[in-house]
Amino acid sequence: MSTIITNIGQLVTPIGKSPLNGKKMNELSLHKDIQISIKDGKIVAVEVRGSKTDSGGLIIDAGGGVVIPGLVDPHTHAVFAGTREEEFLARCQGEEYTGGGIGSTARSVAQISEEELIKSASHRLKEMLSHGTTTVEIKSGYGLDMENEIKLLNVIKRLSKENRLRLVATFLGAHAFPSGMHRADYISLIITTMIPYVSRYRLAKFCDVFCDSGFYTIDEARTILRAARGAGLLLKLHADELASTGGAELAAQLKVTSADHLLHISDRGIAALKEAGVIAVLLPGTAFSLNKRYAPARKMIDTGLPIALASDFNPGTCLINSQLIIIGLAVLKMGLTIEEALTAATLNAAAALEMADRIGSLEEGKSADLVILALDNYRQIPYFFGHNPVMKVLINGQLVWDRNRDRY
Ligand code: NIG
Ligand code: FE
Repeated sequence: MSTIITNIGQLVTPIGKSPLNGKKMNELSLHKDIQISIKDGKIVAVEVRGSKTDSGGLIIDAGGGVVIPGLVDPHTHAVFAGTREEEFLARCQGEEYTGGGIGSTARSVAQISEEELIKSASHRLKEMLSHGTTTVEIKSGYGLDMENEIKLLNVIKRLSKENRLRLVATFLGAHAFPSGMHRADYISLIITTMIPYVSRYRLAKFCDVFCDSGFYTIDEARTILRAARGAGLLLKLHADELASTGGAELAAQLKVTSADHLLHISDRGIAALKEAGVIAVLLPGTAFSLNKRYAPARKMIDTGLPIALASDFNPGTCLINSQLIIIGLAVLKMGLTIEEALTAATLNAAAALEMADRIGSLEEGKSADLVILALDNYRQIPYFFGHNPVMKVLINGQLVWDRNRDRY
């Protein structure tokens, strides 16, 4: 099955199969007057417009718009139950975020079935797709016991079979501590029972820990992550979000795939991540929604640390689910150039999921995951902050979203 995308006003993409850092984050490849040929879900050519085409293939007209790689969201908590608007409004009136709401979402999750979780999450994923996101990482972590953590991971597995989006599951049993249980006992349950089960039934690619003040200590996080690695899982870490506790340094020591949040990262932490080859995943939607400082993105890029952007979409600290808005915030609030932000939400975000060999850029051999935007040029993306310019979305060469047909 072959497809050709024609009438592309501008095609813009980072290039490569590994994360870009420093000045390379600014070096996008920009084309006009070209077309994209797709065969069996993969890009086979980015070539001059009007080149000889396979007869009989599908032709998709980009309407003179901008084509970018499918957006990759490498950090979300998108499967949850219940809402927490009162907590949000209290925070707007000056109350501090303590993370206590995680338990309230966990109580809501415990009360509903897998089917109901699938229904609400499918709706959220469809909304993300309509904003140009084609790959989403989703964490468990609102279960906090064996039955409910596994329920959340099963939901992600079923969603990934039933949805067009590419989903990546992360086990975050160590998100908070369940009430009425000693922390050492819960950690032992995670290590002796949950991780082996998750690994045996291949329910997650990554294991993550909320390592922060009031949550998991450095030593606890290290113990859990080592056990997860021993069981064959790849690693991520929520680090230095609420306070500077040395999470980045731990992430570097363990050479995890990504360290996420990093609002309070130290200079030593930045240097350590760079040295260890860890990707910094930044979540400006969370800083915005909590009215907190932003992670020092400029300093990180200027030091040569590759950064990725994610939404952190969750019911407590960030309801933003659009990577286009996250790109806008990164440009507006963290001083990224639009080129750096696009690289961070595509190729580097794919690298934060260990998928940069297959997705994250538009070049021969990669999967045809792409977004057609009704814009004159890509530099309008942050300018039209809050608009949704997404016209069409392709995943694996398949048209999975068409605004004109509201199709999925
Ligand atoms: O990434 N930091 C930890 N977890 C989530 C929010 C959890 C919640 O409040 O529900 C986050 O911000
Ligand atoms: Fe998070």
